[in-house]
Amino acid sequence: MTDTTIALVTGANKGIGYEIAAGLGALGWSVGVGARDDQRREAAVEKLRAAGVDAFGVPLDVTDDASVTAAAELIEQRAGRLDVLVNNAGITGGRPQEPSSVDLEIIRTVVETNVIGVVRVTNAMLPLLRRSAAPRIVNMSSSVGSLTRQSGPADDLVTGPVAVAYSPSKTFLNGVTVQYARELRGTNILINAACPGFVATDLNGFRGVRTPEQGAATAIRLATLPDDGPTGGFFEDAGVVPW
Ligand SMILES: NC(=O)c1ccc[n+]([C@@H]2O[C@H](COP(=O)([O-])OP(=O)(O)OC[C@H]3O[C@@H](n4cnc5c(N)ncnc54)[C@H](OP(=O)(O)O)[C@@H]3O)[C@@H](O)[C@H]2O)c1
Repeated sequence: MTDTTIALVTGANKGIGYEIAAGLGALGWSVGVGARDDQRREAAVEKLRAAGVDAFGVPLDVTDDASVTAAAELIEQRAGRLDVLVNNAGITGGRPQEPSSVDLEIIRTVVETNVIGVVRVTNAMLPLLRRSAAPRIVNMSSSVGSLTRQSGPADDLVTGPVAVAYSPSKTFLNGVTVQYARELRGTNILINAACPGFVATDLNGFRGVRTPEQGAATAIRLATLPDDGPTGGFFEDAGVVPW
């Protein structure tokens, strides 16, 4: 088995995920670029390699059991274990998402990707993570999933628009993160949720005010936690995000 730290980032072909892969690669890690589209994945791998990153492509659709199983097999064959999993892939489901008029299919689709997809990928990778000396899992959440902030004064920059699929999917993901932390307490696996801030990416039509590189910073910090680091927490650059 290699001594090099092995990471997998889902949805790493663009946006924040790409910058997380670049940041972890800059540490000298070997980084699996999880992406569902062959061309977009290979383009990202090429770009990362050109920047000196030991990147490899991992075909991965987080909503597809067979794809996720194959991704775990690929990593097992390549490295025999996984040290860090960053569950970054996510969708908003588009707009409008007012609760009273939402198309129920939008809620199902968003939860399938943002929540069930994370559980699917995490469970497929856990056997590989358990072989690591210092396993870390980072779930890319959002502060729009904070019920405390959603219940506070209306401020689109803090709460985002009214969104009955996207925001609660991140609340759900936070809850899932805490349940994993409870189950895994007593192991060496640390699992936390990250908020990247409001980042200019495809996800929001590039209306965000931060760069993807800035958005990657908290996830990179949580991916590189020391053994006595937190687990079951929710963090942004400024510190803890209230639930
Ligand atoms: N941007 C923000 O302001 C912001 C704020 C808070 C949280 N976040 C979270 O940060 C994460 C990354 O978002 P981003 O802003 O970087 O968005 P983005 O540029 O749209 O990137 C999203 C990534 O997820 C991938 N993806 C979507 N569905 C997938 C699936 N079923 N299987 C595999 N990959 C899938 C996309 O792949 P394709 O290219 O194939 O579509 C893409 O690589 C998301 O979880 C998002 O909710 C973003």
